[in-house]
Amino acid sequence: MKTAIIYYSYTGNTHHVTQVIDNILKEMGDEVVIVRIRPLKEATNFLIQCKEAFFDSKPALYRTLLDLKDFDRIFLGSPVWAFKPAPAVNTYLDNCGSLEGKTAVCFVTYGSGAGKEKALEIMEKVLQTKGARVIAKVSFQQGEDAANIKRKLSGILSK
Ligand SMILES: Cc1cc2nc3c(=O)[nH]c(=O)nc-3n(C[C@H](O)[C@H](O)[C@H](O)COP(=O)(O)O)c2cc1C
Repeated sequence: MKTAIIYYSYTGNTHHVTQVIDNILKEMGDEVVIVRIRPLKEATNFLIQCKEAFFDSKPALYRTLLDLKDFDRIFLGSPVWAFKPAPAVNTYLDNCGSLEGKTAVCFVTYGSGAGKEKALEIMEKVLQTKGARVIAKVSFQQGEDAANIKRKLSGILSK
């Protein structure tokens, strides 16, 4: 199976989860391509970051892989920002190609956990609008160790 893991990470937690997912998928024999979403400019002030997330802003991104037609499965990861996905994820989803016929897994990393379900639901809806069949939504607290991440994913990936 060919899988793309598409993610944004500001402080590294979602990046860490992505690496664990990458290892698991490769152990299963998947061909994996990792797509890191990077905004051209990003706010560093917490309140501005929250405001941009809250108002669904769509920052310009560095060029990245947008054509996902070659993949069977998509993982989409984001930190929770103000109960929402991070703004760069909005831009990516706006611009990537159709996800018709693909399965998808959404994942978020979070601090307190406030808004994690809402952020996942937003990501799920957009993926569905683009034609993907979302088979799981999963959340990881910042700092969660690799064994825990693997345990949460094993149920999903054995389906
Ligand atoms: C601007 C901003 C807003 C955040 N909002 C939330 C939130 O609403 N709920 C929550 O549980 N964590 C929130 N967090 C914590 C992050 O979701 C958490 O630290 C996440 O793991 C960061 O991922 P990253 O290291 O990949 O950037 C927020 C962090 C930032 C910087």
